[in-house]
Amino acid sequence: MKQKTHFLCSDCGYESPKWFGKCPSCGAWNTMSEFKIKPEVATRSVLQNTKSLNNSKPVRMNEIETENETRFESGIGELDRVLGGGAVHGSFVLVGGEPGIGKSTLLLQMCQEMCKNARVLYVSGEESLRQIRLRASRLGISSPELYVLAETDMENIISETDILQPDILIIDSIQTVYRSELQSAPGGTTQIKECAMLLMQYAKRHSVTIFIVGHVNKEGTLAGPKILEHMVDCVLYFEGEQTGPFRCLRAAKNRFGSTNEIGVFEMSDHGLLEVQNPSAAMLSGHPTGSPGNCIACVIEGTRPLLAEVQALVAKTAFGVPRRTAAGVDYNRMVLLLAILEKRAGMFLSNSDAYVNVVGGMRLDEPAVDLPMVLAIASSFRDKPLPEGVMSFGEVGLTGELRAVSCAAQRIWEGYRLGFHTCIMPEQDLGDNIPKDMNIVKVKSVAEALKMVL
Ligand SMILES: Nc1ncnc2c1ncn2[C@@H]1O[C@H](COP(=O)(O)OP(=O)(O)OP(=O)(O)O)[C@@H](O)[C@H]1O
Ligand SMILES: [Mg+2]
Repeated sequence: MKQKTHFLCSDCGYESPKWFGKCPSCGAWNTMSEFKIKPEVATRSVLQNTKSLNNSKPVRMNEIETENETRFESGIGELDRVLGGGAVHGSFVLVGGEPGIGKSTLLLQMCQEMCKNARVLYVSGEESLRQIRLRASRLGISSPELYVLAETDMENIISETDILQPDILIIDSIQTVYRSELQSAPGGTTQIKECAMLLMQYAKRHSVTIFIVGHVNKEGTLAGPKILEHMVDCVLYFEGEQTGPFRCLRAAKNRFGSTNEIGVFEMSDHGLLEVQNPSAAMLSGHPTGSPGNCIACVIEGTRPLLAEVQALVAKTAFGVPRRTAAGVDYNRMVLLLAILEKRAGMFLSNSDAYVNVVGGMRLDEPAVDLPMVLAIASSFRDKPLPEGVMSFGEVGLTGELRAVSCAAQRIWEGYRLGFHTCIMPEQDLGDNIPKDMNIVKVKSVAEALKMVL
């Protein structure tokens, strides 16, 4: 019988019987690769197989027995906070991130503490047992209750899990595991969906907490079908700049906690270290007296965080000015450039503009608008901001400054780290603010520039 050939996008997992130069699903170029499928095996849906097992009946909500929600604590404070106070029993957590960012390291480090009162099975489809052992010794992890399995066939993984009965199962990664009865290649949308479905049902039925690692594509979103994110209880993104030591763990979805919390880590020879004071870490090496930088205070979850926003404005060498943004939203930056031009009379149409947040952090809060404006203006005028100045505030389309939440908390954080002047919007602060902090309240972008530049 003739072997069938399919094509699979290595970025998003899109499958097609035809080859495309550009993936019709994610638009990436030159990512379709060929794979052969076995002719004799027929595809059967996992859902069909498991239907008979789930013979559930409606029950009264009040009659459902509940135990107190118990959580496994990982001993890594930053991770537990992002999970909402530890991993809930029977939950299904997806950890996504760029290659080499430290996903496997984080999960292996998490095992160390969890093994003390739970049995953990770490399944790796990417590394050999020896490699995992080497990494574990580098990280100083050893526990008799930590089991490792190098396997990619879901059937074997499930049967080994049935025998071992762990409390926590880690699958590294969902892109490498496969169900042999399905025709498509591992990493394809069908395989990812069916494997995740099987794991989800296993987690709920046997009350096993399952962590899965997911790869991301070029755009930074999780590779594979969107349904993967719907299926799991928590989606955590592990991000940061490969070149810098800082890593940030963020919850994009959490059925058991807030999605605003972030965890900050530092990558070292001995694995990931928690960063207890992220503001101080982000500001280390902060240049004073040079034009084009401003300290912003944003609220990440419940914590205020100081970060340095840098801007470089230079004359355009070719026709169209270049604009790049790292760590802030590109469209927001372009909008602020337009506001500066229109409302503050700063002629930027002939200039390239680059904005960067030091330390690889991503600041998505509107409170970063004013610091970004100040950094751009400072670079444009080639004049540094006065020393010890921090700022926050949202900028509206007419150039007005709008109030932001938790202002007092932000001011305290800056004060703690030695800042003595705060440029902020007109808003009520209450009584609880540091006495010797110089608060400069401004109404508009133009007024802010007049005050400091
Ligand atoms: N011997 C070492 N000394 C110091 N740092 C190391 C060492 N080995 C690895 N690292 C760090 O760990 C990172 C790799 O971490 P890890 O393998 O956990 O990433 P990952 O997200 O699981 O990657 P992948 O997607 O390839 O599985 C490297 O980028 C490097 O920063
Ligand atoms: Mg890995």
